[in-house]
Amino acid sequence: MSDPVPSWLANAPAWTAAVRERKIRSRVVATDAAVLAAVLEQSPKTVLDLGCGEGWLTRALAAHGLAVTGVDVSPPLIDAARELGGGTFHVLPYSELASIEGAPFDVTVANFSLFDEDLRAALQPLSRTLIIQTLHPAFAEPPYADGWRVETFASMEGEWREPMPWYFRTLASWLRALRESGWVVTGMREPAGDDHRPLSLLLIAARLP
Ligand SMILES: C[S@@+](CC[C@H](N)C(=O)[O-])C[C@H]1O[C@@H](n2cnc3c(N)ncnc32)[C@H](O)[C@@H]1O
Repeated sequence: MSDPVPSWLANAPAWTAAVRERKIRSRVVATDAAVLAAVLEQSPKTVLDLGCGEGWLTRALAAHGLAVTGVDVSPPLIDAARELGGGTFHVLPYSELASIEGAPFDVTVANFSLFDEDLRAALQPLSRTLIIQTLHPAFAEPPYADGWRVETFASMEGEWREPMPWYFRTLASWLRALRESGWVVTGMREPAGDDHRPLSLLLIAARLP
């Protein structure tokens, strides 16, 4: 079975540098602001940042006065997050999310952090609203079909030590996965760059009654 996790252990320094030195253009141009705005529009008091990485989104939300819990499977990324503070950080794989302190949260946000084929653990209902930002499936390399792919990070500066397997899913597959975990999509955004080409897909979902 493919596993994205080893990559996030090996590549923690390169990832931290890429985010903190603002080397990922799509983030600078559109996607950081888009996910931040989507969360703040919900007027939450508490947020769970799923797959928080080195913690930029946790810190950005905390700067607005929110109580934010960041979880991530990668100990070096959580160490980096704790160094800058701003939230409560836990080393926790999605498979152990049921034990998280502070649930239910007002909002759960997953910013480019859902890579598994089976998303049931990550999508368990720990909040009333779920916000996911991901690669826009319609603007990815073909084939337009669910399946495992590999990110080599070849287009990025830095010392990337381990490729990352990740599971591509179509838009229909995203909606199906969410519905199977008890979520219904209530909003969809497509943050775009200057050329009006979508840089991501942002899904806002509510708990099914
Ligand atoms: C592309 S990074 C995004 C980090 C952060 N959300 C951001 O916007 O910068 C993906 C993150 O998801 C985390 N992740 C991937 N699979 C995970 C899992 N099964 N459990 C917990 N965290 C996971 C990785 O460790 C990594 O920090």
